[in-house]
Amino acid sequence: MNFIQDIRKRASSTSKRIVLPRSSDIRVIKAAEYLQDNNLAKPILIQNEEASIPKHLDVIDPVSDERLKAYATTFYERRKHKGISEAESIEIIKDPLFFAASMLAAGDADGAVAGSVATTGDVLRAAIQAIGLKKGSNVVSSVFIMSFEDGRVYTYGDCAVVPYPNEEQLATIAIDSAQTHEKVTGTDPKVAMLSFSTKGSAQHERIDLVKNALEIVKTHNLDFSADGELQFDAAIIPEIAKRKAPGSEVAGQANVFIFPNLDAGNIAYKITERLADATATGPVIQGLAKPMMDLSRGCSWEDIVNTACVCALMN
Ligand SMILES: CC(C)(COP(=O)(O)OP(=O)(O)OC[C@H]1O[C@@H](n2cnc3c(N)ncnc32)[C@H](O)[C@@H]1OP(=O)(O)O)[C@@H](O)C(=O)NCCC(=O)NCCS
Repeated sequence: MNFIQDIRKRASSTSKRIVLPRSSDIRVIKAAEYLQDNNLAKPILIQNEEASIPKHLDVIDPVSDERLKAYATTFYERRKHKGISEAESIEIIKDPLFFAASMLAAGDADGAVAGSVATTGDVLRAAIQAIGLKKGSNVVSSVFIMSFEDGRVYTYGDCAVVPYPNEEQLATIAIDSAQTHEKVTGTDPKVAMLSFSTKGSAQHERIDLVKNALEIVKTHNLDFSADGELQFDAAIIPEIAKRKAPGSEVAGQANVFIFPNLDAGNIAYKITERLADATATGPVIQGLAKPMMDLSRGCSWEDIVNTACVCALMN
């Protein structure tokens, strides 16, 4: 069974309610039908513009929905320190992205998948403002799950959200990426904090940031192994690990790779995708109190189905 078949199978046993905010997009409707007809999730569409939606799908119209006022009040309470009024809150929540995020915040849905016609920034802003961060998190970030034909699956973080994380943020990215890896792939994470140095082979303030982030990760007494600083070859190739990082529990067998900044993470996932023929699933957004996933605007309806399955597993 390959990675995509595996996440579809495991998602189908969770029966999660997944909101898909842009029903004017034909790809979203097709994905919703597929999710429902194959019992992968319970899709909820949000009516906007003149979309014609098959009758057997669940559809919500934010403007006439009786929960609009309550969601707007909750949003107003969360955001009034920013100077917004109650009337403005109602207008904001009528937006399908904010309505979907409010459904998650209220427990009226388990996850949301958006972004086929919105930017990453718009999806993240709705999620951060209406859902908020999960307990203990200080930053919203993302991973891509990189899967190969031969069954290998690796998690890369962060590749899409935080340009230059500080050491506390990098530690949170490592912890959240490990948890995402475990939830989505069902396998134990082994986290490599990547750098251009392995175990003191070079000295630089950028290396110190990675080392300090690892120290913060270790203070959390988590039940997965993490090590650093490691170069990518020492993290993934056992023979090189023996030479460069002898005794490490992670070196040579890492499956979660934490990049020191967005330049490195974004470039690395695209190189893996384009030169090594990996399938990149994501960005999987993490750090939120409830899972709201982002899509690329070039996504296919099958990508939306797969992202909804990942979203179901993120609960
Ligand atoms: C997340 C994002 C949308 C925030 O954009 P923004 O609204 O311009 O950001 P600001 O710095 O003005 O922050 C706005 C609020 O969001 C919060 N915030 C921003 N980034 C955050 C993050 N990663 N995690 C948690 N909170 C965040 C800020 O603390 C601030 O909170 P406040 O309103 O309560 O004070 C922005 O970082 C973004 O667009 N990231 C995506 C990058 C991208 O385009 N990637 C695509 C490459 S694949």
